[in-house]
Amino acid sequence: MCGIVAAVAGRNIVPVLLEGLRRLEYRGYDSAGLALINETGLQRLRAVGRVSELSAQVDQTGAAGHTGIAHTRWATHGVPCERNAHPHISGGLAVVHNGIIENHEALRSRLKAEGYEFTSETDTEVVAHLIVSELKRTSDLFAATRAAILQLQGAYALAVLRETDPSRVIVAREGSPLLLGLSDEGNYAASDASALLQVTRRIVYLENGDCAELMRDSYRVVRIDGTPVERAETESLLSADAVELGLYRHYMQKEIFEQPVALANTLEMLGAARSIQPGLFGANTEEILKDVQQVLIIACGTSYHAGLVARYWLEAIAGIPCNVEVASEYRYRESVPDPKTLVVTLSQSGETADTLAALQHAKALGMTRTLCICNVPESSLVRENSLRFITRAGPEIGVASTKAFTTQLAALYLLTLIFAKLRGRLSEQVEAAELQALRHLPSAVTKVLELEPGIREWSERFAMKQDALFLGRGRHYPIAMEGALKLKEISYIHAEAYPAGELKHGPLALVDKEMPVIAVAPNDLLLEKLKSNLQEVRARGGELYVFADADSEMLESDGVHVMQLPEHYGQLSPLIHVVPLQLLAYHVALVRGTDVDKPRNLAKSVTVE
Ligand code: M6R
Repeated sequence: MCGIVAAVAGRNIVPVLLEGLRRLEYRGYDSAGLALINETGLQRLRAVGRVSELSAQVDQTGAAGHTGIAHTRWATHGVPCERNAHPHISGGLAVVHNGIIENHEALRSRLKAEGYEFTSETDTEVVAHLIVSELKRTSDLFAATRAAILQLQGAYALAVLRETDPSRVIVAREGSPLLLGLSDEGNYAASDASALLQVTRRIVYLENGDCAELMRDSYRVVRIDGTPVERAETESLLSADAVELGLYRHYMQKEIFEQPVALANTLEMLGAARSIQPGLFGANTEEILKDVQQVLIIACGTSYHAGLVARYWLEAIAGIPCNVEVASEYRYRESVPDPKTLVVTLSQSGETADTLAALQHAKALGMTRTLCICNVPESSLVRENSLRFITRAGPEIGVASTKAFTTQLAALYLLTLIFAKLRGRLSEQVEAAELQALRHLPSAVTKVLELEPGIREWSERFAMKQDALFLGRGRHYPIAMEGALKLKEISYIHAEAYPAGELKHGPLALVDKEMPVIAVAPNDLLLEKLKSNLQEVRARGGELYVFADADSEMLESDGVHVMQLPEHYGQLSPLIHVVPLQLLAYHVALVRGTDVDKPRNLAKSVTVE
């Protein structure tokens, strides 16, 4: 998704802007640009494609300056091309923007009638013209920006600079993330802290409705109406190394292999305890969960799949009813609220616009017991919930979510155990055994990762396929869904997941010798039923690739390939079975030569609706 970096400093800030954009590349983008103020006035450079293209333009032109704004664009309004790339300019003023201005068409018509000329199809350009039109009423850029913002509907993070005001950058946020970075050399703003670690760790997180003025030696934050407001300065604990690729070829590969450590870090607080403390989710967890009668999980994409697995756990182990909703659907659906619901939002980034909006919707319906499971402690989502659990997966850069998923599952299992305990469904003995099983997860995942050579071999056979089917049953059906999502997302092979029992109700018609069928086959109560479903596939000539447990007694035969996972892992088996599917998607994408970490059309952090 789009990224913003802005700087006002006592030195040439172009290298800072470019490095900041590089650090935001993982969010996904299709073009990049920057605007500077220097002795020649306002200078703008824009390039379609990678930040390296923009960097080459900087080298050619020798662009330099002490005040600047920069942007990576992920197209929403208008195709990716130079004309639509940010910054957008009007009357000596430049703007970069993340988010979507929903009333841009009405504003565009009005501004056109006032004589403003548009050179792009973007919603952002209206913001530039709007501020210029407000500058007819006030000469102060900060006041004019706020007056323009008051007319916007939608979500935005903005950075603005003006040729005649060379020592200031104005920024504002509503619905899209933005933070300030402070240093003795100058002041900065960015979409996320990783962009600014190169210059500072002193971070000020802006709230929705905040506007800020950045100067070299000072800054101030006000609300849209101009009321001054104090925002706390914090020190970012993000490790600069954590976003380095190291010896790995891709972030996705690195992140798959980091899962044992990510799980160990996420579960570290358990120590050697034989019993689980509800306080893991916040000081007043027990009080909030006490009379909860159902759970509503809201999330998108991979996080949604984690929620689907958790439904099986919550209902089977804790005996509490659970619904799982896709955030973008839930927020617009007429549903029946129950105040005794615990609303659980799941998100790696904590900035997913649909999930944030769905949470607001649930709260507006009177469901105020809220918990989020999130991987980014400083994110918007974490600030919006009464209870929170921060997974400690470390920064996830690859667009395809991997370690965030398994750590979310670990957190959801802890939540299940807490509910089971509060509802008197967990004996001391079982509780101790469950915690031991969780502690064993990092070494179990490490063993699964050793299957990589065999999976690499399988991937060669998938590379030329157009479609693939993924099958699972019970709590492994969401794992089949996650496997299909991983494959389609990074290899662009069309993939669908079905609960294996549904096959004969339609999808079996698709099966022939060209259709690889991937089955998740743990040794659980549904194994024999799954085996019958797989026979149905084989009888139609479908080629089977089965991920089985060592004790599943699945044998290789003509057209049936079996890979044995080291051990059966009971209720926690979904965390084990997803790993080979991640590796399969990764290796198929490698063979097909796609851009693994930045798949086409996708963004890491989906901050627009
Ligand atoms: O940051 P979030 O977990 O809220 O993101 C939700 C989805 O956008 C995300 O999981 C997406 O589906 C991934 N690219 C899947 O790999």
